[in-house]
Amino acid sequence: MCGIVGCILKDKESAPVLLECVKKLEYRGYDSVGIATSDKEIRIKKDQGKIDDFRKKIDLNELPGKMGIAHVRWATHGLPTKENAHPHTDCNNRIAVVHNGIIENFKDLRSELEDSGHKFSSDTDTEIIPHLIESYMAEGKSLEEAIRFATRKIKGSYALAIMSLDEPGIIIGVRKESPLIVGIGEDEYFLASDVPAVLNHTDKAIYLDNREMVILDGNKVTIKDLDGEIISKKIHTIDWTEDMAKKQGYNHFMLKEIHEQPDAVKNTLREESEIRELVKKLPNFNKVCFVACGTSYHASLVGKYLFESILEMPTDVILASEFEYSSGGLDENTLVILISQSGETADTLKALKIANKKSETLAIVNVIGSSATREAKHVIYTRAGPEIGVAATKTYVSQLTSIYLLALLLGGNEDHLKTLKKMPDYMEQSLKKEDQIKEIAKRYKNTWDFFFIGRGFSFPTAMEGALKLKEITYIHGEGYAAGELKHGPLALIDDDVPVVAVIPPGHSHDKTLSNMEEVKSRKARIIALGADNDEDIISEAHEFIGFAPDIDEMLSPIPYVIPLQLLAYYISVERNIDPDKPKNLAKCVTVE
Ligand code: G6P
Repeated sequence: MCGIVGCILKDKESAPVLLECVKKLEYRGYDSVGIATSDKEIRIKKDQGKIDDFRKKIDLNELPGKMGIAHVRWATHGLPTKENAHPHTDCNNRIAVVHNGIIENFKDLRSELEDSGHKFSSDTDTEIIPHLIESYMAEGKSLEEAIRFATRKIKGSYALAIMSLDEPGIIIGVRKESPLIVGIGEDEYFLASDVPAVLNHTDKAIYLDNREMVILDGNKVTIKDLDGEIISKKIHTIDWTEDMAKKQGYNHFMLKEIHEQPDAVKNTLREESEIRELVKKLPNFNKVCFVACGTSYHASLVGKYLFESILEMPTDVILASEFEYSSGGLDENTLVILISQSGETADTLKALKIANKKSETLAIVNVIGSSATREAKHVIYTRAGPEIGVAATKTYVSQLTSIYLLALLLGGNEDHLKTLKKMPDYMEQSLKKEDQIKEIAKRYKNTWDFFFIGRGFSFPTAMEGALKLKEITYIHGEGYAAGELKHGPLALIDDDVPVVAVIPPGHSHDKTLSNMEEVKSRKARIIALGADNDEDIISEAHEFIGFAPDIDEMLSPIPYVIPLQLLAYYISVERNIDPDKPKNLAKCVTVE
């Protein structure tokens, strides 16, 4: 969803550093890229396409200067073209701006500016910003004042990095509803949408809040509110390392992150004592409402089955983008649990704002210091480490682990807690199925439709398997409650539509097995997941992925999702798709 970077360096050229930093944000957008550096003039290189292709086409020596800004784009307004790529400038190429977010009233502002003679060269909402700043600076205002005035005019969300030739040596950042951090190195200063961008240069960061402005001047960092008052902010030490954000020999980040899952879960399990403390602090509640998007929504669905079965508590799950239309009758006795890897998803943050007014809110988040962690009343960190692949994998199993810890500690269920602690071993067993899944992927790579079925705790697993497939293979996949197939989708089943059946041992086992038989008798090929000693499945499935016989359905969502992630990954690779950067998608969606 667009990534921005800015830096002022002491004695290095900025262009290579900007390129390296913005590359770490490629998960936020990869349809265009651009850099502007500043010394005696502002020089810009930008283009449609991915950073690696851009790097081959440009000569970094043509971008001199120790300071600059850069951008990766995920198009919202205007096609992904060279003209629409950031940075954008004013009429005289003296002000350069990179932006993450959406300016909602850009059309009105653009026509006002055009009426007063400003010339535009892109279709973006962003381009009004340098022109607006230009118009205020023409009235004699400083860059800082002009930006402040501009923020009063624009409606919408923004993280901006801005520089002007008229005030050389400074970069100004400002944010509202889009993330922005300040990295503090040794006499070097950075701005970035997210921490991984700066990890190679510093482990010290300040997290800007909404309506805050930062002025980097090469000697210091000054943070102000939008009335110009200086604010003092805490400098955080980041515990993620540069190495964590590298591929470490894997072909793709996604595969590396799939393999990191047992460790990610171990790290989440270390939060047990924090969660025990949180459980003591939480006020009484008699209803739970999970809110999330995408993969985090599927983790929430598991949460619903868990809270209902362990705590016998009414539990709703609402898609964050639907929350403002239907928020499940919140009151002061409701605990609203928001789940978000990034902590920056616009839909989830909007829901959090609504929920905060009526209920107790708890955010389960991976990115430390992100907006959700600052706005929710309580926070659980999943501690999965940085996730770069656009399709969520290790953060999903860490979210599930956090939800299990919370539910099991609230319910005092020590037996299941013991099994949960053995989860990394069960996950290793699923990972051992990799070679088998690679072969299955080869056989199914040209399929156009898949169904994924499961009941109870396995229904969200089926949905997550289908989402992974859609995201990174561009094959249509649908996750369905196994019992619902007969109410419609069975009409679609034939020998061209394979069905992936998720059948762990437990309460739902026999019924899902019958549903598997139903599709098999309609000629569907069956790929089934189950306990490796489950003779009933082995005799019926065309492909059987068997592991972890001691895991029953309640804890199955963690080890059972791994074969589905691997299946999607290897089909993606077979189809020559880059699973780390699926088309049209971004990891962090900061627009509604
Ligand atoms: C995007 C990502 C998904 C993610 C969803 C929610 O759509 O591509 O992988 O599940 O956002 O993100 P969050 O950061 O709130 O978990």
